Amino acid sequence: MKTIKRSNFPEDFTWGVANSSYQTEGAYNSYGKGPSIWDTFTNRKVFKKGNGNIATDFYHNYKEDIKSAKALHLNAFRFSISWSRIFPDGEGRINREGVTFYHEVIQCCLEHKLDPWITLYHWDLPQKLEDQGGWTNRNIIDWFSSYVDFCTKEFKQVKYWMVLNEPMSFIGLGYFMGIHAPGKKGLKNFLPAAHHATLCQAEGGRIIRKNLPKAIIGTTYSCSYVTPKNRQILNVRAAKRIDSLLNRFFIEPALGLGYPYKAIPGLKRIEKYFMAGDENKMIFNFDFIGVQYYFRVVAEHRIFPLILHAGEIPASKRNVKTNNMGMEVFPKGLYKMLKQFNTYKDVHSIYITESGICLDDEIIHGKIKDKERIKYIKNTLKVTQKALGKGINIKGYFNWTLVDNFEWAEGFSPRFGLIHNDHNTQKRTFKKSAYWLQEYLKR
Ligand code: BGC
Repeated sequence: MKTIKRSNFPEDFTWGVANSSYQTEGAYNSYGKGPSIWDTFTNRKVFKKGNGNIATDFYHNYKEDIKSAKALHLNAFRFSISWSRIFPDGEGRINREGVTFYHEVIQCCLEHKLDPWITLYHWDLPQKLEDQGGWTNRNIIDWFSSYVDFCTKEFKQVKYWMVLNEPMSFIGLGYFMGIHAPGKKGLKNFLPAAHHATLCQAEGGRIIRKNLPKAIIGTTYSCSYVTPKNRQILNVRAAKRIDSLLNRFFIEPALGLGYPYKAIPGLKRIEKYFMAGDENKMIFNFDFIGVQYYFRVVAEHRIFPLILHAGEIPASKRNVKTNNMGMEVFPKGLYKMLKQFNTYKDVHSIYITESGICLDDEIIHGKIKDKERIKYIKNTLKVTQKALGKGINIKGYFNWTLVDNFEWAEGFSPRFGLIHNDHNTQKRTFKKSAYWLQEYLKR
């Protein structure tokens, strides 16, 4: 499969860009918004990577950005709702200004003939809820349900909904490793938080279905193609465990398969947080799953951490090509992951809801040359096409991201955008990759 012609993709294929509220909106403490865990986390003195207080000021620039997305000939625009912009305290009191803002964003997308795709939770939990334990508190199911109920009754004009963005990332990094907000660590936080996220994932789906029977409902998963360091049996088994943790942990309970205890028996400890009926409550029949792929993981056997007994060999020690966050550039791994997710009989369709690369973009005579990004997109589309050719029902591709934005614990230095942002002036400049995509999608 050499050519990646646009016409080789289905006529109704979705072409989009993705972003999230905390990484772009700014206006962090104005227009009635309450604080989120990311506001707290990044505004601590010890955090040295900047913050999303202004981010890319999407709050004031959304019209320009949506217009640019249209100029690229895309047909979808994915963004997330900041829970604390709507419910400043997480529950109860509603901030009408926040509600109006999202109505305007949705309206602007529709006027530009871009389908708005909403993610309900992209990591910015209201701080007031974290003060009560956040995801570790089972009450999160009620808090989240009220929030989803409100959004789906309010934003009825939206057809495409995603419940959670990458639960393994926000629970793993935020409630086990402590490197993302809210900075909690250990299994005592990870296990309850993970189980409650699984329950919210399904409950969110049920609420959307009830309020919007015609909606197309999905949820998204981070994934990494995991290979063992070598063929030694201990390393092969270690790779299986990492694969189960990274790629199977949150999708399998939704499909009625439960958590992957067989591969990682120690995970059974999560049952301490079960209540009667949870096995069924974890299940929801999603219309699609969102696959989000960035890098490959090479695994080896290790004593620690306990339970997992496996670790990742960093790309820097493997002499491979990396992006500017030190992750291996390996677009072919996406093909493997599409195949892997396609083996589940109840996965009805797949959207690549995020895919991208961060680079040190070179500015030459005011032009931003990002050849590597163009190459990455081409390779990604190549493997997508290959997967389509094998009969995998892939219905869309969303590039991460439209405009360089705030990359969580890494701050502003990783630039993932098709459009360069001067983070001091908010001036947007199309990169070569944006022009490439524009040409590619032109009819
Ligand atoms: C997240 C994005 C993030 C991207 C690049 C994904 O895991 O959903 O918010 O910016 O990866 O690291």
